[in-house]
Parts: sequence; structure tokens; C-alpha cells
Amino acid sequence: MDFADKVIYQLYPKSFYDSNGDGIGDLRGIIAKLDYLQALHIDMIWFNPFFVSPQNDNGYDIADYRRIDPRFGTMADFEELVRKLRAANIGVMLDMVLNHTSTAHPWFQRALAGDKKYQAYYYLRDPKPNGDLPTNWESKFGGVAWAPFGDTGKYYLHLYDKTQADLDWHNPDVRREAADIVNFWRDKGVRGFRFDVLNVIGKDEQLVDAPAGVESKTLYTDTPVVHQYIKELAAASFGQEDDSITVGEMSSTSLPNAIGYTNPANKELSMVFQFHHLKTDYEDGNKWTRARYDFDYLRQLLHDWGEGISAGDGWQALFWNNHDQPRALNRFGNIDHYRVRSAQVLAASIHLSRGTPYIYMGEEIGMSDPDYTSMQDYVDIESHNAYAELLAAGKTADEAFAIVHAKSRDNSRTPMQWDSSQNAGFTTGTPWLKPTNQDLVNVHDELEHGRIFNFYQRLITLRKRYAVIARGDYRAFGTDVDWLYAYKRRLNQEGLLVLNNFADHEIKFTIPDDWCGGKVIIDNVPGFQLQPEITLPAFSTVAIYRNDLND
Ligand code: GLC
Ligand code: CA
Repeated sequence: MDFADKVIYQLYPKSFYDSNGDGIGDLRGIIAKLDYLQALHIDMIWFNPFFVSPQNDNGYDIADYRRIDPRFGTMADFEELVRKLRAANIGVMLDMVLNHTSTAHPWFQRALAGDKKYQAYYYLRDPKPNGDLPTNWESKFGGVAWAPFGDTGKYYLHLYDKTQADLDWHNPDVRREAADIVNFWRDKGVRGFRFDVLNVIGKDEQLVDAPAGVESKTLYTDTPVVHQYIKELAAASFGQEDDSITVGEMSSTSLPNAIGYTNPANKELSMVFQFHHLKTDYEDGNKWTRARYDFDYLRQLLHDWGEGISAGDGWQALFWNNHDQPRALNRFGNIDHYRVRSAQVLAASIHLSRGTPYIYMGEEIGMSDPDYTSMQDYVDIESHNAYAELLAAGKTADEAFAIVHAKSRDNSRTPMQWDSSQNAGFTTGTPWLKPTNQDLVNVHDELEHGRIFNFYQRLITLRKRYAVIARGDYRAFGTDVDWLYAYKRRLNQEGLLVLNNFADHEIKFTIPDDWCGGKVIIDNVPGFQLQPEITLPAFSTVAIYRNDLND
């Protein structure tokens, strides 16, 4: 795999840097900050969607897949960005949202106007004979998954917002359109593609109710036909290039499916995002709750996936943050007492593991959740829906707000904090979403005297220097030690032992003698002594390398 030593940066254009004072980040803003991106030594940037969109779901509701939304810039800006990134040796990964279109997309509009060809692009269904909705499915953003299709008496399926209509991938025309869109961007020099909610494209043609007690998503997630459609898409588009890098967003996927999607022999995708480890602070599997995360469960998931994917010759994306998740520092770290050290432990724990590390904008300077005080501070549609549902379910306004405060997707969507000024140096206008702690965390101070950004730089460099980090296999280590997340990597005679303390107190344990002749290649423990009895202070990380292993 020639992408094994690469690291990908996820950039949320709306919040990165605003070049014209309208409060919204844009492509020229990204161009203005290329030096910053280059300094991190990343290999590729995944951009969240900046295509023409009504922005009901922040650009995941696309009305034209081939045009840049004027809010973000022009095609000329995009081409300049690609060119400049290429000169800096940074590839471009675009977000392909092909499970659904915006209802403002011309396909949907023509369908509404009666065009049969385009009606067959979507899931249009009659109500049940008794007038009920076609199925009992729920939208992932709350409420039902069906909305009236104009005044036709039919309904269209929307697994997300009601302005995001699901495309019917059984229709070969839809699959051809999908490949054409990918090829349009390939022609512009794009080699990376992130496929939004890809494992739900395989809904049955005959849609049926979920039986009582069964979640509707189990009926349409990871169906066998998804693999078939991905193979077909790969062959018709990105699979024609050796240097393409693709990642499928696979919510609720299983290990066997993840291996299937990514084992190179299957010619599907380079890697997948799975989210099980980010549900370890859900109470009873429900996101809209507040609970401290369960470390043992998190560790077990990291090991099961690490070992399973390694054994099955699959590949996974390694990440703690993205634009849909509250900041990992708030969930798994201790921002009050160990902000820097927790950021370093989180970074090392995935950057030395097997897979492709992703850094979500702001993570590299230790950004955390905003301290909003009112629902009016939030923009995200899912947050507002959830708040209303929590109230309807009997929570008090304070309880509902506390849950949204902890779980909102806006937690990670706040503007990049460039400096400590009022709008964090993000805009000269009014930011579309408020920053709140730029006096504590910002790029200017971090580059001057911080210890997070340079820790990321070192981790990225190590992945390129040591083949065992990029390509070694993965084995769990020390699972009997409380709060220790540790693993071994191995490639021929090279080995790496990675030790991470996730607790806010010191832990002690022993490692086998033969590791004591190894070399510490990165750590955040002042004066660390390599000996069989290890003491790891709160939120610390140590990686030991050796190249003297035999069979
Ligand atoms: C993915 C995106 C998310 C979006 C959803 C619907 O989960 O990451 O932001 O809301 O798909 O497109
Ligand atoms: Ca702007």
C-alpha cells in the first residue's frame, strides 16, 4: 500500500479562514493559510463539501456537484488551490455525498415536475393502504424518514434531513451519474475521495417496516449490494489510478464488512471510517445522553478493530475527531488539568497505530468544545432537532441544553482560532459560529511556545521514517493494566511498543526485559527511564522501537 505512511488533514472550509469578511470561511482563505498547512507535513487534505448547496446540512445537501458554491469561491479559486497544494506536495480529497441530493437539485426538481426519468432516481413510494407512511423508518436526524412528494400523494425517502432525498442506487443511471461526478473531479487533478454515508446506499427495492424492537438502520446498512456498487464505482472512476486514496464513511459497520470494503484484493476502497469507539460515552447506545466514557470498552474496541483489520489485511482510518463529533479532548482527555498532555496522548495513540491517521482542523493546536450558553449559539439542524425532542421527552430546558452542549456537532465546527482577538483572527466580520476560548488556545500562541503542534509534526515525521509504524501489524498489549492503552507493532525484525496512559493519575506496570534495549522514539514524560518497571504519569505516552526481533 503506498499510502500507508501518509497523514490526512480534515479541513472544514466554512470555519477555516474567511478572506472577505462575510463571516464564512472560503477557498481564498485556505490559499492564504497554505504555509500553516504545509508546516504540519500532512500529505492530503480532505475538504468538507463546498459545492452549491442550500446549506441546510452545511453542504451535505448538494444542489450541484460540479460547481463551487459562490459563498466559498469560484472554480478558478479551486484550481489555484489544487495547483498550489500540489506544489507543496499535498493532495486533495473531496467529499462525495452520493447517497442523497438536496431537494433543490435539478434532478429532484425535474422529478417533482413529473419527469419519469428523474422520478426513478429517488425512492418514491405510495402510502400504505391505511394511509400510513410507506415504512416505519426513522430519519437519522430525528422524526420520520418520509416526506410528501409534492402533491402527488407519494412520499420520498430521506434518511437524513427532509431536504436530503435518498438516491436509488438500483437505478443504473444513478450509478453512472455517481461515477461521472467522481470523474469530473479526477479530471481536475483530484486523487482523494471521501464517500459520505456510503454503506447505506444499498437499500432494498422493496422497502419494508422494521419489526418491533429492531432499529430501521439494520435493514439497509452494509447490505451485500453495497460491495457490488463500490466495486463498480471503483472500476468506472478512481480505481483507474494507482495513486487514488478513498475512504468510505461507514456508520455502524461491522469488522467483516470493513475488511471486505478495504482488503486490496476486493478493489473497493483504500479505507473506512467506523465509529464504534466514538460511541463509548453513549448511555444505552443513545447519543443524546450525558455519560462519562467507558475506558475499558473503548480499549476493547480499539484492540478488536486494530487486530481484526490487521489480520484481515484491511485498512482503517484512525481518528478521534471530525465535523460530526464533539472534540475528543473534552470526551477522553482532561482539559482542566492536562490539556496539553491529553492532546499528546490522543495523538500518539492513533498516529503510531496501524491505519491512516486523520487530523481534524484545530486538533493540532488543542482546540476544545465552545462554552456556549444558549441554544441560539448553535446552528446545526441536528442539535436543534435533538433539543426539541429532549424537551418533548420530558427533560427540563437545563437538562436538554446540557446534553446538546456536550454532544452537538457544532462543538467541532467553531472557527479555527488563529489568534486571541475577538473573532479569533478568523474573520473581520461576524463569524457564522462563535469561537469562545481563543485567549487560551490559538495558532499564534501555539506556534510560538506550544507543545501540541510540534508533537504532531514529530509523529508525522516518525510515520515516514519507520516502516514499522506505516506497515507493521498490530497486537494488543497490557490489557490487564487499568487505564493503559498499549499495543505492539511488528514488521520483520522491527518492533514498536506504544504505551499510553489515559488516566489523570500515574500508573505502574512492567514490560518484558528485551524491550529495555530498545530506543524511545517519542514520549511526553520528562526524564523517562527505560527499565522493566514502568511508571507512566497522568496522560503520558512512550513509544519504544527496536530492530532486533527474530521469529
Ligand atoms: C455524514 C456527514 C454529516 C452529514 C450526513 C448526511 O454523516 O459527515 O455531516 O450530516 O452524512 O449527509
Ligand atoms: Ca468568506
